[in-house]
Amino acid sequence: MKYDLLIKNGTIVTAAESYKADLAVKDGKIVAISNEINDEAEKIVDAKGKLVLPGAIDVHTHMSMPFGGTVSSDSYYSGTMGAACGGVTTIFDYPVQRKGQSIMELINEKKAMLEEEACVDYASHCCITNLNNGEILDEMSKAVEEGITSFKAFLVYKKEGMMVDDATLVRLMERARELGAMINIHAENPDLIDMRTERYLAQGKTSAWYHYMSRPEFVEAEADKRAIHWAKHLNTPLYIVHMADKEGLEAAIQAKRDGADVFIETCPQYLEYTCEVYKRDNGRNFVCSPPMKGQESQDALWVAIKNGLIDTVATDHCPFQTYEKDWGKDDFSKIPNGCDGVEVLYPYMLDAANRGKIPFERAVELCATNVAKIFGCDDKGSLSIGKDADIVIYDKNKDFTVTIDKLHTNCDHTIWEGKQLHGYPVQTYLRGSLVYDNGDFVGKAGMGKFVKRSPRI
Ligand code: URP
Ligand code: ZN
Ligand code: ZN
Repeated sequence: MKYDLLIKNGTIVTAAESYKADLAVKDGKIVAISNEINDEAEKIVDAKGKLVLPGAIDVHTHMSMPFGGTVSSDSYYSGTMGAACGGVTTIFDYPVQRKGQSIMELINEKKAMLEEEACVDYASHCCITNLNNGEILDEMSKAVEEGITSFKAFLVYKKEGMMVDDATLVRLMERARELGAMINIHAENPDLIDMRTERYLAQGKTSAWYHYMSRPEFVEAEADKRAIHWAKHLNTPLYIVHMADKEGLEAAIQAKRDGADVFIETCPQYLEYTCEVYKRDNGRNFVCSPPMKGQESQDALWVAIKNGLIDTVATDHCPFQTYEKDWGKDDFSKIPNGCDGVEVLYPYMLDAANRGKIPFERAVELCATNVAKIFGCDDKGSLSIGKDADIVIYDKNKDFTVTIDKLHTNCDHTIWEGKQLHGYPVQTYLRGSLVYDNGDFVGKAGMGKFVKRSPRI
C-alpha cells in the first residue's frame, strides 16, 4: 500500500508508554505502527529525536461567545487556528441556550459557522439554562442520537439568566444517566458572590483583587460539594469543569473513592497563577470565574495531577480585548470574565513533563486520552491503529517564550505573556493533513469536522 504520510524514527507517546516506532497514515487514519516501515508514502517526515503525540483535545472553549456585555474575541476561525498551532486538533465549544430555545436549534445555529470556519475538529457541550417545561429532557435523547452527549449546567451567573436551580440540575443529571450522557457543571455559589460583590463595591473596594475576594475558595467549594452530593446520592455522572479550589477538589476525590462517577477538569491558569495576580496593575486581564485561588489550592491541584486524580486539563479559553477588560478598571464587577489559553494548553503541560514534573504519558492522558474516553470520542485521543491521524510532532529542545505576537488567536494580550516553555510542537496534523508547521498555520478554514460522540456505557 502507498501511504499518504509516513512519520519515521520518532518516539511515540501514549497514555501508557513511550516507544520508538514508525507510524503510517492513509485516508486520515493511522493504519500502521511498527518498528520500521519502509513502504512508499506520498510524504515522509523524519521525526528522529522528536516525540510523536496524539493531538490534544481542548474540551472547554468559548469561541464567539456572547458574555459580559460583549462577545469573546476569538471567532471559530481564529480560535481553532490558535488551537492547531498549539497542537490541539479538537475543541469542545459551549453554546448557551437562550430562554425557550431547543437543543437542536442551538446546535444548528452554530453549525453553519463551525462548518465554514473551523480549522480543527469540533464538538459541543450544550449549556442548558432552562428546561422549557420539560421539553429539553425529551430532546436530550435526540441530541445524544446526533452525537451530542454532554450538557452543561451553570450553578452560577444568576443575574445573567444562565444559572439552573438544584431541581433542574438534578433532573438533568438523572436524564443524563438514563441516556449515557454527561452533565458538566460550573460550580460557584451565586448568592454569596452577589452578596459579597455588593458589599465590596459599597465599601469602595473596586479593584480586580475584589473579584477574587467576592468568590474565594469556600464559594466554589460549597457548589462543588452540593453537586457532588447529588451525584453520589442519585448515582448520576458528573463532570466538574475548571476546578480551582482545594476543598472542592478533596470532596470530588473522596466521591471518586466512594465509587461515584465524578470527573475533574482543571485548567493551566490555576496550575500556573494564584490569586496574587489580581494585585497586579493588569490584574483585570486575569479575571475569570472561578478566579485563581491561593497557593494551597494550587499545590493540591498539582498533587492531584501527579497522582492521577484529576482527569483532564482544558483551557476555558474565553479571551476579551484589553479595552473590554478596561471597562472594569474602577469596578471589578464590570470586567468580562475569561482568559485565553487554547494555544498554550498542550505546550504548557508538555513543558511540565519536559521539566520532569509529570511523565509525558500523563500529559497525553490529561489533554487527549482521558478526554476522548470520558466524552465518547471513539476515533480520537491516542496514537493507535484505526484512530484519526491527529498527530503532533514535538521538539523537546525547542525553547519558546510566549508573546502575544507569536500567538495566532485574536486577542491583543495574553495572560501567558513572557512564559518560558522548554519544548514546543513543531508540526500538527489533522486527520493526516498538516495544519501547523514551525510557527505557521498552514491549514484552512472549514477543514474541521463535527465529532459525533458515543454515549457512555
Ligand atoms: O470566566 C470564565 N470562565 N468565562 C467563561 C465562562 C465560564 O464560566 O466558563
Ligand atoms: Zn464556567
Ligand atoms: Zn467555561
